[in-house]
Parts: sequence; C-alpha cells; structure tokens
Amino acid sequence: MNTGSAEKIKPGVLKPPLKWAGGKRWLVPHLLPLWNNYSRRRLVEPFCGGLAVALGIMPAEALLSDLNEHLINFFNRVKEGLVIDISMENDEKLYYTQRTKFNQLLKDGRQNTAEAAGLFYYLNRTGYNGLCRFNRKGLFNVPFGSYKKITYRRDFRPYSGVFKSWCFQAGDFENLDIEKTAFIYADPPYDVEFTQYSEKAFNWEDQVRLAHWLHGHRGPVVLSNQATGRIIDLYKSLDFKIHYLQGPRRISCTGERTPANEILALRG
Ligand SMILES: C[S@@+](CC[C@H](N)C(=O)[O-])C[C@H]1O[C@@H](n2cnc3c(N)ncnc32)[C@H](O)[C@@H]1O
Repeated sequence: MNTGSAEKIKPGVLKPPLKWAGGKRWLVPHLLPLWNNYSRRRLVEPFCGGLAVALGIMPAEALLSDLNEHLINFFNRVKEGLVIDISMENDEKLYYTQRTKFNQLLKDGRQNTAEAAGLFYYLNRTGYNGLCRFNRKGLFNVPFGSYKKITYRRDFRPYSGVFKSWCFQAGDFENLDIEKTAFIYADPPYDVEFTQYSEKAFNWEDQVRLAHWLHGHRGPVVLSNQATGRIIDLYKSLDFKIHYLQGPRRISCTGERTPANEILALRG
C-alpha cells in the first residue's frame, strides 16, 4: 500500500483503526460538500475520536484533538510507524492479562509509550463493544467482549505517511490554539442525559461552553449533535444555520433501536 502523503491516498481507503463510540463515517458524504469549498485550509477536529471523519475527508493538513490521552497516544505512535508485537487473540484469559499489563503501565506513568498504544489497540478490538471506560482510580475496566471473530492489524505503517502531516493533541477543546482561517468540524458527545465517553461526562455547561467557543472562531465551523430542542435553540441564538439530518439507526442503552435525529450547525 502507498505510504505517501495525504493527497496520494484516496479518502476512505484507510479505515478507522479503532472501534469508537459515536463514529461519524455515515456523516462524511454530508460534510464533503461543505469541506470542498475550503479544502486547502487546515481541518481542526477538537473531538476527533476514532478519526472516521479525517480519514473520510483526507485533508492535507489537520489538527486532531481529543480529551482521551490514550487515543491520542495511539495515533501519535501510529504516526511514528507502530508495529505491534504483543500477543493478540480473542481469548478471555489473554484479554485480562493484557488489561492488567496496560493498567500497570498507567500506574507507572508509562501511558504515553508504544507498548501502551499496542495494548490499547488490543483492548479496544477485544473488549466489550470497543468501550473505553476507566474506574475512579483511572484504571481501564472494560470486560472481555463477545465477538465471534476479530481481525487484528499489527503493522500500522500504511497510516504513518498520512499521519505525518497531521498533528494529534490530547486535551480539552478550549485549550486548542487555532488559526483564524481553519475549518473546524466539532463532534462533541451528544446532548443526552447518560453519555460518558471518558471519565468526565460532557454536561450541559460544556455544550454551552463549546457553542460560545465555536461562535468566537472567525473561519468556517460545522458542528454535529443530536437534534434536541435546547441544542437547536442554543445554536440558533448564536446565528448558526441549522441543517436537519436523519442519522443511522442506533441501539439505545435499553437495547431498543431508535432513529437518531441529528443536526449540523454551520457558520462562516
Ligand atoms: C462523538 S465522539 C467523536 C467521534 C468522532 N467524530 C468519530 O467519528 O470517531 C466525542 C469525542 O469527544 C471526546 N471528548 C469528550 N469531552 C471532551 C472535551 N472536553 N474536549 C475534547 N474532547 C472531548 C471524547 O473522548 C470522544 O472521543
């Protein structure tokens, strides 16, 4: 496979390497027409998650950020040409052994290493529903998953050429330093009562903080979120244009399949 720059690999050829809650691959066809007008700009994703959007769009330059430092460590190691050499099998005993090893690295302050990235990948593919959850002590506590068959990748070098022109940063969205012309695509955790992608829930104050932060950006902004009344009112009150979308059917926490109503809020 071509390991050259972002321009040489077609959008969508490299699949998101991790399972990630709230992945927006389905949204890429809606985002592309908006992005195409600005495709020479830098793409900034303050909530990059599993990179479904960046890999679907393939910008030449990007700043991809997320609060989850393990996710960002993984992408930074992939950028360096990660090749995983630990045992990876869909086996319960091995899963808990590797989970203990990963947690020992966290206890030792060695979470930003290639070894932690390899273990994080294995736990993500093998653990329950690809969840990323930590206990109060900050230790990864997702149980073994229930997949029939898992395909593991060891060699991430096909991604590294593309990732070389992308910058990965861990932290809260408000800490990002963004040039005026950047194109921001923001995909925060949905505005729903029980959402927790990381140790710290993204609450209503965060949604309001984000809306005002996005409003302060001088360049183009696209935000996606659940179409709740208060989200629509919030973005309308800040002069964003609202587009309504029908999202893919998702499984709710009660196991019921519900159609998700989504919005895109646009500015600039
Ligand atoms: C809906 S997911 C993004 C999914 C991503 N667009 C994709 O396609 O995979 C939301 C992300 O926001 C991150 N997050 C939560 N709170 C945050 C904060 N305060 N600042 C930055 N990222 C945050 C979570 O770790 C999670 O990865």
